[in-house]
Amino acid sequence: MPKTEQVSAKAKKRLFIKTYGCQMNVYDSTRMADVLAPLGYEAVDSPRGADMVILNTCHIREKASEKVFSELGRLRAFKQERAEEGEEMLLAVAGCVAQAEGEEILRRAPQVDLVFGPQTYHRLPELVARTTRGADGRGVLDIDFPAESKFDHLPEETAASGPAAFVSVQEGCDKFCSFCVVPYTRGAEYSRPAAAVIAEARRLAAAGVQEITLLGQNVNAYHGEAPESGTAKAGTWGLGRLIRALGEIEGITRLRYTTSHPRDMDDELIAAHGDVEKLMPYLHLPVQSGSDRILAAMNRRHSAADYLKIMERLRKARPDLALSSDFIVGFPGESDADFADTLKLVNQAGFSQAYSFKYSPRPGTPAAVEEVQVAEAVKAERLAGLQQLLGEHTISFNASCVGRDLPVLLERPGRKPGQLVGRSPYMQAVYVSLPEVALERLTGALMEVHIEAAYQNSLAGRLTVDGQAVDSAAQPAQPARIIA
Ligand code: SAH
Ligand code: SF4
Ligand code: F3S
Repeated sequence: MPKTEQVSAKAKKRLFIKTYGCQMNVYDSTRMADVLAPLGYEAVDSPRGADMVILNTCHIREKASEKVFSELGRLRAFKQERAEEGEEMLLAVAGCVAQAEGEEILRRAPQVDLVFGPQTYHRLPELVARTTRGADGRGVLDIDFPAESKFDHLPEETAASGPAAFVSVQEGCDKFCSFCVVPYTRGAEYSRPAAAVIAEARRLAAAGVQEITLLGQNVNAYHGEAPESGTAKAGTWGLGRLIRALGEIEGITRLRYTTSHPRDMDDELIAAHGDVEKLMPYLHLPVQSGSDRILAAMNRRHSAADYLKIMERLRKARPDLALSSDFIVGFPGESDADFADTLKLVNQAGFSQAYSFKYSPRPGTPAAVEEVQVAEAVKAERLAGLQQLLGEHTISFNASCVGRDLPVLLERPGRKPGQLVGRSPYMQAVYVSLPEVALERLTGALMEVHIEAAYQNSLAGRLTVDGQAVDSAAQPAQPARIIA
């Protein structure tokens, strides 16, 4: 190892990572920090004065990408400040904008030292070394789709910091929906071997993690190599099989997965919703539109009826399953009648919550060059109408939880002093007010909470002791029951 690298390996350096986009990026950011830790980088929570700043970016909609360039403008001033102090601030752009617009970033933002995509961050030590050598004065670019998987090169994850963690099991997408950049920014589908996922989940459980969310752009397309039995390899496992195996890990009390495609909701996975108690009764299953004509133009390869049928089968397996979804309004060629079909599907399906977006033409995707683009004003009107309807469904679902006792994994302090917040089985945020003395002890605990109030985006309740609600103002006479 050259001398300069030995020195840098010892010095403590401040690393600030800002994450945009989906949970895959959240996971990747934590793994980038793991890769950089042996070089002496430690996470800080402000870019000012940092030795390295990474923007882990999202390209999914136009607004998401634009944010990157405005943030880079702001960071240039901090970099300048550091330079005036005789210090360096390495500025890196990672993630999906980096993958899609790497060259453009280096051209438009010369203050950027390093650009790398979602599949090459295991090479960060080498990339950082190349920037610090600064041979040609130009930023370093690495947006390869390497033949080797980054997962084979990443160090073991550092100990989890809370009771819930993400585990990436699948990457990339081969579906090519006509509106979407993901197949281009993340590359082809790849599934990690089941044994590697199970080992990571065991380590997390040993570090105190109770809830694991399995991640993938198309997580239910998972088909990882099965753990070897003796010398013979046993083929591949689907997600349902993997979930069953993870459900057997002691200490893990909750499992979730996201994001799924309706086409990959196979029998084994649907059955797991009925059989694996630890699999939470909540599923995010994007449908995008209720119109068969638009679904076909989107290349989703299923109809509205297919989607409703899948929902029905899932609810048969797990009657209390709450479903959420994603919608795009104003896809090219979407008529009033198509949009009416979307509203109809929402009313038929009864989602517990949903995300909806105006169609955003993305460079390089087939839908972006369609001639029949929908006017901005029409998109805005449809989005408002859809969000109104979805909001009504959410509030009525939340209201239906009032009076129930729900297990809540209390993850962290809430918005107000004396509060903890966690998730219900149905992914709702649940706020609980507690006596000061109990706050620390109950952070990370899975508790039974009596739901007293429902709001648009959250629930509020108080702890129960053997079915009795505990007065949040008073200290419980006996310790509230910790479920796990
Ligand atoms: N893999 C997931 C979705 C990943 S992208 C799936 O197949 O459903 C997350 C969401 O962003 C999508 O579900 C879609 O609703 C939205 N989205 C993707 N591309 C978009 C675009 N060009 N314009 C508006 N919304 C988009
Ligand atoms: Fe994008 Fe479609 Fe793949 Fe989802 S399935 S990531 S929407 S191309
Ligand atoms: Fe965005 Fe890339 Fe995720 S485009 S949504 S960060 S896969």
